[in-house]
Amino acid sequence: MTDSTNVPVHVSMIMDGNGRWAKERGLERVRGHYEGVESVRACTEAAVEEGVKYLSIFAFSEENWNRPEAEVIALMSLMAKCIAAETPTFHKNHIRFRVLGNRERLSAELLASIEATEKATECYDRLTMIVFLSYSGKWDIMQAARKMALEAASDPSKAESLKDMKLSDFDKYLVTAGVPDPDLIIRTSGETRISNYLLWQAAYSEFYFTPVLWPDFRKPQFREALEAYAKRDRRYGKVK
Ligand code: IPE
Ligand code: IPE
Ligand code: MG
Repeated sequence: MTDSTNVPVHVSMIMDGNGRWAKERGLERVRGHYEGVESVRACTEAAVEEGVKYLSIFAFSEENWNRPEAEVIALMSLMAKCIAAETPTFHKNHIRFRVLGNRERLSAELLASIEATEKATECYDRLTMIVFLSYSGKWDIMQAARKMALEAASDPSKAESLKDMKLSDFDKYLVTAGVPDPDLIIRTSGETRISNYLLWQAAYSEFYFTPVLWPDFRKPQFREALEAYAKRDRRYGKVK
């Protein structure tokens, strides 16, 4: 266990560098994605051991649909395989599994297996594992605004109440409704950008960037990130 009581409630990971990991070894990019699954397993175990309550991963962005078709197909089928393979672990370790993103773009088959696993694990609360799939931050904010506008258009009392709207009222329209904002966002592979991830929810997240490529990011690296987080001073604009 990390020697700290300052454990983040929600850790989010931008898993990056699978392609470069494979290229360094003269392998196909997809091999990097396969190896990256082992990192997800390792980090999930470490998160449970450290007492993290929410672990989220950016698995596929809305922009990733623009990758070559073969890679998109490989990533989607890897997702389906992982759900099937990991479901017994979710039950064993009492992990709630959720997928957040633009579901309209997912195949009916993948969607059915996602929904079945979400339903089967919704009773668990040791760790909530969130996979952001076909997700982008701008898309999330836009769909939230659209939902709100449609509600207001069909219900004058809702339109009236917009005057007194608080920021926390907007949270309810985002796909992350009810999920605490990430305390810590980790990005691997040396890139130091947010790539249209949790734009609204990351307003006060701590960022941890590491040059380690995602397939090499395992338990020791995850713990190192938690240790770095424990030393951060979160001020939220106030004076301490
Ligand atoms: C992250 O690795 C996985 C996804 C974005 C799906 P990349 O595939 O982006 O790997 P690099 O950045 O090309 O090395
Ligand atoms: C971000 O990685 C998206 C995911 C990790 C799913 P990318 O590799 O797609 O991001 P860019 O293109 O380098 O910004
Ligand atoms: Mg990348």
